[in-house]
Amino acid sequence: MTRRAVIIGVGHYLPERVVENAEFEAKLETTDEWIRSRSGIERRHFAAEGETTSVLATHAAKAALADAGCDADDIDAIVLATSTADFTFPSAATMVQAALGMTKGFAFDVQAVCAGFVYALSNANALILSGQAKRVLVIGAETFSRIMDWTDRSTCVLFGDGAGALVLEAQNGEGSADDRGLLSTDLNSDGRYKDLLHVDGGVSTQSTGFLRMQGNQVFRHAVEKLASTANTALDRANLTASDIDWIVPHQANIRIIQGTAKKMGLSMDKVVVTVQDHGNTSAASIPLALSVGKLRGQIKQGDLIVAEAIGGGLAWGAVVLRW
Ligand code: UT7
Repeated sequence: MTRRAVIIGVGHYLPERVVENAEFEAKLETTDEWIRSRSGIERRHFAAEGETTSVLATHAAKAALADAGCDADDIDAIVLATSTADFTFPSAATMVQAALGMTKGFAFDVQAVCAGFVYALSNANALILSGQAKRVLVIGAETFSRIMDWTDRSTCVLFGDGAGALVLEAQNGEGSADDRGLLSTDLNSDGRYKDLLHVDGGVSTQSTGFLRMQGNQVFRHAVEKLASTANTALDRANLTASDIDWIVPHQANIRIIQGTAKKMGLSMDKVVVTVQDHGNTSAASIPLALSVGKLRGQIKQGDLIVAEAIGGGLAWGAVVLRW
């Protein structure tokens, strides 16, 4: 028998305000056509004033708990992936813990930018496999609208706000790739590339800063590194790309998503795509896509899923799981 971290609930939350590409045409030298054709993005959600990352995360967490049929008391740990926590400290995760009325267990944030949810899943899996937790709430939540330079057309049209969450539970499997739950993970980073995608401020520089990106440089790394990490993770689970039911990629750019699928020899009807409606929500994009994919009827119990992401660091990785 093998201990597995099995997904028993999923949920998401998107702020009410939807901003169509056309809204940027009035303020910047850009067009709906440019944004759509270069990124695939048509609209995104922006959080309301005072609607912070932990608020979005709490909504998503409640939806995932309801889907799992669990109370906050049933949860042993919260792992929250974000680069846009409400405060320098405490962690957004402990704020969600309090908002859920959870008085036991432990909670912490993971910061790996757009790869954050993959890193959080890998950490949550380790907590479950090592016996430190039986049920873990894994959340990706971001308010990237708060770190946009609204005069920089090359970045501010690309990002959005949102949150998604999963509930993982320790269950016994057979130890084969037919088991439900997380089957393998692969994490990577290379800090030499920090200037390609970063925020030019932070606590130690006593500023907040804005997101800066050399988009075409990041693009060049993305397809190759995403296909490679996905294949490494599949290899670790003794699976190949032909076993995949769904790729659930980080939703940064439809051209990166298409390029990665092509490199893996998969057609786009095996890919869950939400980038048109959410934009790039960084660590929130994979759990959002998992939740929306389930609601659309795409993702079903028993499906083999590969989630992969790359972002600032550079940091990238993949998770293979059976839903
Ligand atoms: O989530 C974390 C990881 N991030 C990513 O994966 C993002 C990766 N990068 C990308 O998605 C794409 O590189 C972008 C969507 C950011 C840009 O697409 P691109 O095809 O790489 O365009 P580019 O950066 O090479 O820019 C092409 C042109 C430039 O003009 P010139 O220099 O050719 O005259 C830009 O100034 O497009 C111009 N441009 C715009 N034009 C209209 C840049 N932003 C805009 C805009 N509207 N909003």
